[in-house]
Amino acid sequence: MLTVLAYLVVGIFLVGFAHRIWLYASCPAPLKIPTTPAPVTTSGVVWRLFTEVAFFNSLFKGDKWAWAGSYAFHGALVLVLLRHLRYFVEPLPAFFAHIQIAGIVAGLVMVGGLGLLLLRRVLIDRVRYISSPADYLWLLLLLGIGGSGLLMQFCIRPDIVHIKAAMMGMWSSTEATLPTLMVGDFIFIAHLLMVAALIVLFPFSKLMHLGGIFFSPTRNQVDNPREKRHVNPWASN
Ligand code: HEM
Repeated sequence: MLTVLAYLVVGIFLVGFAHRIWLYASCPAPLKIPTTPAPVTTSGVVWRLFTEVAFFNSLFKGDKWAWAGSYAFHGALVLVLLRHLRYFVEPLPAFFAHIQIAGIVAGLVMVGGLGLLLLRRVLIDRVRYISSPADYLWLLLLLGIGGSGLLMQFCIRPDIVHIKAAMMGMWSSTEATLPTLMVGDFIFIAHLLMVAALIVLFPFSKLMHLGGIFFSPTRNQVDNPREKRHVNPWASN
């Protein structure tokens, strides 16, 4: 049952994600609209996109609080997910021993960053005015995942050995079972269900900025309209 659900969740994610990327890629960009000052060469555009992904450049220029919260969240998320590999990989690479403490601190930073983003949305009038229910839903869902994770980490321990066996069982497609005896295991099941909801809804949500950033004409166009004529895809035939 768990195996079937896991494949279903990952399947919906992969098909949905690929479909959205296809839509982005096939959407024509009729105008030259890079946000200036913009790079005048292709390698400049690659560098621009890299700094955008690595440092959240334009967010930094636009909104320091949003930048601080989201940079803390995304940076910490990378470490948290890296540490989670221990549930899916056997034997673990040697470097794993060295990232354990950093991974736990990252869990705290991740939840702190999300808290900051939620406070910003609630406390700043003009941000609250443009916030939709979905904006709150994502923050609350991620806070639920992070909060239940920290609860398991610091307060109520789940049966980690059984959890690893269940996750490894999903790979080999044998029938994996979830532990349900201790309180910590119920928290784990809540953690897992929230993660499943996140993965299934991902392709239908604003979280698609993960792939969408690379298709944004204001970021991925070379600023060369004087050197090279930009042909509107609708006008070319
Ligand atoms: C199938 C996927 C996942 C499984 C099986 C899983 C399992 C767990 C478990 C068992 C813990 C407790 C760690 C311990 O007590 O040592 C934990 C902690 C945590 N989880 Fe997850 N988790 C999953 C996905 C995620 C995702 C996608 C996120 C973030 C969006 C996340 C965020 C956290 C955080 C922040 C912690 C606390 C810090 C830490 O221990 O690393 N988890 N997770």
